[in-house]
Amino acid sequence: MPVDAATRAPPGMAEAVARIRRVLGPSGCLEAPADVEPYLVDFRGLYRGATPLVASPASTHEVSQVLAICHELGVAVVPHGGNTSYCGGATPHEHGTEIVLALRRMKRIREVDAANYSLVAEAGCLLAEVQAAAEAADRCFPLSLGSEGSCQIGGNLSTNAGGLNALRYGVARNLVLGLEVVLADGRVINGLSSLRKDNTGYDLRDLFVGAEGTLGIITAASLALHPRPRTVETAFVAVAGLDAAVELLSRLRTVTGDCVTSFEYLPRIAVELTVRHIPGVTDPFDRPHPAYVLCEASTARRDPALRGLLEQTLAAALEEGLALDAIVAESLAQRESLWRLRESVPEAQKVEGASIKHDVSVPVSSLPGFAADATAAVLEIAPRGRLVAYGHVGDGNLHFNVSVPEGGSAGEFLAKAPAIHAAVHAIVRRHGGSISAEHGIGRLKREALAEHKALVDLDVMRAIKHALDPKGILNPGKLLPPGDAK
Ligand code: MLT
Ligand code: ZN
Repeated sequence: MPVDAATRAPPGMAEAVARIRRVLGPSGCLEAPADVEPYLVDFRGLYRGATPLVASPASTHEVSQVLAICHELGVAVVPHGGNTSYCGGATPHEHGTEIVLALRRMKRIREVDAANYSLVAEAGCLLAEVQAAAEAADRCFPLSLGSEGSCQIGGNLSTNAGGLNALRYGVARNLVLGLEVVLADGRVINGLSSLRKDNTGYDLRDLFVGAEGTLGIITAASLALHPRPRTVETAFVAVAGLDAAVELLSRLRTVTGDCVTSFEYLPRIAVELTVRHIPGVTDPFDRPHPAYVLCEASTARRDPALRGLLEQTLAAALEEGLALDAIVAESLAQRESLWRLRESVPEAQKVEGASIKHDVSVPVSSLPGFAADATAAVLEIAPRGRLVAYGHVGDGNLHFNVSVPEGGSAGEFLAKAPAIHAAVHAIVRRHGGSISAEHGIGRLKREALAEHKALVDLDVMRAIKHALDPKGILNPGKLLPPGDAK
């Protein structure tokens, strides 16, 4: 079967649905249109699909049974976590020939091993629940995203989520020790090791992280924990632009002994949009500045010196004109309100109207050059487009978004999206970057992936897909480029 989804229901669909009903019982099957509805539309509202069944197994054994049935009968399966994908990765296609496999009932924290700094969580645990379980054992699971109250750990791993702390702790891939995975034919890889060292051949675990459910279904994960931060200092700094932000990051990493946990960049327009659209968000400064960074530094020690280091570095930067203004949060409430400002940017941009998004990364040192080139290219295509380029500058990851011109037509603006994507992605390539830093490929970026990846890489990816999912039943039409071209 090619990687694209079949557009007619396979003959075995009715039988598959009947057999899955018997295996899972009524509590594990949603079929009424109103119950199925939330699984049909992706988070950004880009896709609307159809399905005869949302299957919600409650155990790994049940996932295995469902997949064995689907494999035998050639029925495609779309895994579904918290539905926070930006790329339509968890939404079934419109033709309704796929069942949805929701992991939401697999929500147990199976084990917390504080001495080993690890825990085992099932795929349907919310990220916030994993963080809370770690905290209850005086540990920290540092993956942190704006959507942590609704995204699920299985989805975080399947998309190799990045988020706000990747600068210090790495992305999801760096936080996973072992995985339990159900293969397309229903066999189970019991890989829930919590070892830091295991050199016994090919690393199967890493195949499934970032595979977006196209190679197997992650049902549980052994996750690496860290000591809980005891000292956290948060600063909001006005800067002239990316050049200054990159220089400031470099200084702060050195001065604090690499204690910078987050370093988030916001252009002026991002602050204006959040203040305009998000209740309770205010501008931290009394006058506007071209751009800002939200910087957080933390240590696992009680370390009163950290604040002093931050303040001294910022004072020197202010003196030199590298920083234009700065505040260091005085209270938890102030810290939370700074984070609320940052985390509300996607929502504020959504309320403002149509936007064309890019989730790109380049080496941190190339960010200013990339942004200058990409801004010029975008403005040539959409002269009144509003650049809202913000994000995880500490990781070289910019959400290089463009909002519809003020008072402009969304339709006219969005018609320029293909030209804008092509121009921005070409510049990303020139700067040695990636076209998907943290949001994945899903359905949205398959064509872009075909352009971006070398032929040999795509060949190896297809060979792996074929070896693990020879019938092409796992999340077809996602991640791998369409057709057999390239
Ligand atoms: C963020 O960093 O806020 C998210 O990745 C969402 C976005 O790209 O809009
Ligand atoms: Zn992001």
